[in-house]
Amino acid sequence: MLIQRALSRAHVLSTSRYFSSLSSIQMQTINLPKSPPFSFSSNNHGCNFLKSKPSSVSSPYSTAAFSLGKSNRKGVVPLAALLQIGGVQIAKDDVVKENDPTNNVPDSIFAKLGMQLHRRENHPLGILKKTIYDYFDINFPGKFEKFDDLCPIVTVKQNFDDVLVPPDHVSRSYNDTYYVNSDTVLRCHTSAHQAELFRNGHTHFLVTGDVYRRDSIDGTHYPVFHQMEGVRVFSPEDWSGSDMDGTAYAAADLKRSLEGLAKHLFGAVEMRWVDTYFPFTNPSYELEIFFQGKWLEVLGCGVTEQAILRASGRTDIVAWAFGLGLERLAMVLFDIPDIRLFWSSDERFTSQFSEGKLGVKFKPFSKFPPCYKDMSFWINDGFTENNLCEIVRGIAGDLVEEVTLIDNFTNKKGMTSHCYRITYRSMERSLTDDEINELQEQVREAVQNKLNVVLR
Ligand code: DAH
Repeated sequence: MLIQRALSRAHVLSTSRYFSSLSSIQMQTINLPKSPPFSFSSNNHGCNFLKSKPSSVSSPYSTAAFSLGKSNRKGVVPLAALLQIGGVQIAKDDVVKENDPTNNVPDSIFAKLGMQLHRRENHPLGILKKTIYDYFDINFPGKFEKFDDLCPIVTVKQNFDDVLVPPDHVSRSYNDTYYVNSDTVLRCHTSAHQAELFRNGHTHFLVTGDVYRRDSIDGTHYPVFHQMEGVRVFSPEDWSGSDMDGTAYAAADLKRSLEGLAKHLFGAVEMRWVDTYFPFTNPSYELEIFFQGKWLEVLGCGVTEQAILRASGRTDIVAWAFGLGLERLAMVLFDIPDIRLFWSSDERFTSQFSEGKLGVKFKPFSKFPPCYKDMSFWINDGFTENNLCEIVRGIAGDLVEEVTLIDNFTNKKGMTSHCYRITYRSMERSLTDDEINELQEQVREAVQNKLNVVLR
């Protein structure tokens, strides 16, 4: 249980560590219902939607993501519940299905789909993305293709199987991943697009996108964040003139290229390579830099497993790949103290950043007081902290800063009690007692009703 928690908490603080473990699902068995008898339709881009009109301008990726149940073909959908990603229309009731046990996407997550913070030029994430693009454009002119509008609704196959995530890996659980149905998820990493891009013959690419993970709540964790995936393919003529085999050649090029990237972002810093494990690469590494007095993990990477390339119909090639978390790096580069700020539309935040200006230090406009509320309850077997946090976020949204387990005991009858401290604090204003009390009351009620725990 501890390992599982450590893994799922690690994603923003340490983006790649989420997958850098062989650990299997430990906290719960996933009892996946059989796939409903959905019909499948592909419109050749974005997600596959029966409803969506083919768009003439969108990118041809990613395919195969989505199938619709009969109940969803209702015809009229309220406008506010429709959004557009990569030229594809997505209706809320395609993604949020409250009474479907194979679906665990709440309204609050649907509200983030299509926001694409990484595509805003004057947003810290957009500025960082562009700076990374610049590095690849300068050093590999005309080589790297960029994708930043691929649909985040992908198949389980794309998200996990195609990149060799083991069938019992913890990341596949309903506790960690948002499932639209038993075959379809909100991607939990941009690696979900690798295999398809290989299959379609791309050899140099960067994929940037929003990724989704169920998690606990604190200043560095948010259920939606942004990643960039980079991939470069080599063919035998690339390494034949060297005294290395393909893997060694790719690994050397990978290290050289990513050290250059780290220097481009952080200046002349000390760096080190740490051996690690990812299901999709072998060998696998993490790059760390010594920054502001401590070692900071910048990205995870490695030489792509041959099985991924082979399954994509490519036999004679070798590739390297890396994945990095944009928030994690932007928090350090721009001095942004809380991950919720990335979502703020407060002018006092947004006006501080502009295109091309990486590393301008964020000036907090004010620090508003926190308000703490504790709640204790007897847990049941199915209880997980991620489920609790989902409920709290669903009610308090970005007014919740942290949820911490502060007390945990088991009585003589074997009943276990947890006490959680919820920290409420707005990034933008002072909260009133009345408003917090009201939120806390709603949280207590929802926790009791939805998690079937007994409040103490
Ligand atoms: N997908 C990994 C994660 O989300 C990050 C990553 C690690 C991507 C290594 C890669 C890679 O392409 O080679 O944790």
